[in-house]
Amino acid sequence: MDWDYRKPGTRICVCFDVSNDDALEAWRIGDDPSVEQLTRLFHCGRRCSLCIPLLDTLLSEFKAGCWPAKE
Ligand code: FES
Repeated sequence: MDWDYRKPGTRICVCFDVSNDDALEAWRIGDDPSVEQLTRLFHCGRRCSLCIPLLDTLLSEFKAGCWPAKE
């Protein structure tokens, strides 16, 4: 089975155990969705920073309305 960053519950930030569901919930309830918001809430990017490009991608898709995928 292939790893899919869009699949519900997929861990995006390994260092701080943050999933795409965590990001989605934060962005849905926040008034200004951003990667910085996730850094403040969950510390994403404060260690290796490898999650940042993926979070940027998810955020772009979230703002464009194409993530999460409509069922
Ligand atoms: S994977 Fe997010 S800080 Fe390392």
